[in-house]
Amino acid sequence: MRAIGLMSGTSLDGIDAALVDVRPGESGYAVELVRFGTTPFQPDLERALRAALPPNPGSVEALARLHHALGEALGKAALSIAEGERVDFVASHGQTLFHDGERSVTLQVGDAFVVREIAGATVCYDFRSADCAAGGHGAPLVPYVDALLFHDASETRAAVNIGGIANATILPRDGEIVAFDTGPGNMLIDALVSARTGGNLRFDRDGALAARGSVDERLLNAMLQDPYFSVSAPKTTGRERFGAQFLRAHAALDALSLEDAAATLTELTAATVAGALAAEPGVSLVIVSGGGASNATLMKRLQGRLQHARVERSDAMGVSSEAKEAIAFAVLGYETLRGRAANVPRATGARRAVVMGAIAPRELGALLAKVARECGE
Ligand SMILES: Nc1ncnc2c1ncn2[C@@H]1O[C@H](COP(=O)(O)OP(=O)(O)O)[C@@H](O)[C@H]1O
Ligand SMILES: [Mg+2]
Repeated sequence: MRAIGLMSGTSLDGIDAALVDVRPGESGYAVELVRFGTTPFQPDLERALRAALPPNPGSVEALARLHHALGEALGKAALSIAEGERVDFVASHGQTLFHDGERSVTLQVGDAFVVREIAGATVCYDFRSADCAAGGHGAPLVPYVDALLFHDASETRAAVNIGGIANATILPRDGEIVAFDTGPGNMLIDALVSARTGGNLRFDRDGALAARGSVDERLLNAMLQDPYFSVSAPKTTGRERFGAQFLRAHAALDALSLEDAAATLTELTAATVAGALAAEPGVSLVIVSGGGASNATLMKRLQGRLQHARVERSDAMGVSSEAKEAIAFAVLGYETLRGRAANVPRATGARRAVVMGAIAPRELGALLAKVARECGE
């Protein structure tokens, strides 16, 4: 099945589109990435997105317009990665505008019918609501795919995605998956760099700023006191906790040079990811994906704090680190079409495993027949 996975995470750096071949197999899927691209948001759309995000109040009118405009942007991203080739379906995560996992409240926008209109294929979307309806956090959803891609019976592995927020999936050699958000990924670093450079720089490319700075241990320790870090899993978090407010709450940052502040925030991510992994017994390989995998300083600090495990980018395992989440949603879309439950209740806290995702159908009969053929069902 040829599919497109569309993902836009909390970093708001743009829409990731992965064109993939997904083939069901004995115990999972074989996934091959054909093409990948990130389309940055048009400035107007990005402004509207940021204005709609907490703690800004937003309005229903703005939300409705954003839902439509983002649908257009997602549809165009799909169209552009398809390069005129036919695709069987699109799986669109949309953009999370609000997430309160503990109360099972989540909202992703980006009108799937607009995506369908532009991309000309069935669209699977709204992947989080079903888990929330079953009492879960609606996140993290990628652990299911992590298990398909990375589980190994000879060692305990962890798949860590460092996007705006960082999350970890522990894949025990034998035993049950544990998955949770560890805390901030790149979000605080991005906010710092953007604020200090008046928006000229959006992130600390390759961790170059952090590499030149030194960590303010006192401030780091103060930040590590955030109660989120001591809550036990399942737990999820977002911009609500680790956005600009978090930086404002630690005003001591303002007294540091940009380099020292970047080093301190980079260390916060490394320390909280490493701390979370160290609490899990026997992790010997850490597979990193997301934009943070391209931050050399962050990767070095993570390896420095994890003496007993190898830290590698997922690319080394044959899975593009920038495309992983978009690929994951293509797989989850396939599960939606198959009508298979794909949440991991232990990870999300849901009462039960549920089929996730809604379907904006286009020639659905033919598509489902193809699914049945491929799956031998
Ligand atoms: N070369 C790089 N060096 C350092 N950081 C990077 C690099 N490339 C991407 N990033 C970071 O990754 C972020 C995007 O990561 P991504 O996985 O797309 O997150 P999200 O899922 O939240 O959108 C950027 O905002 C930036 O902070
Ligand atoms: Mg992104």
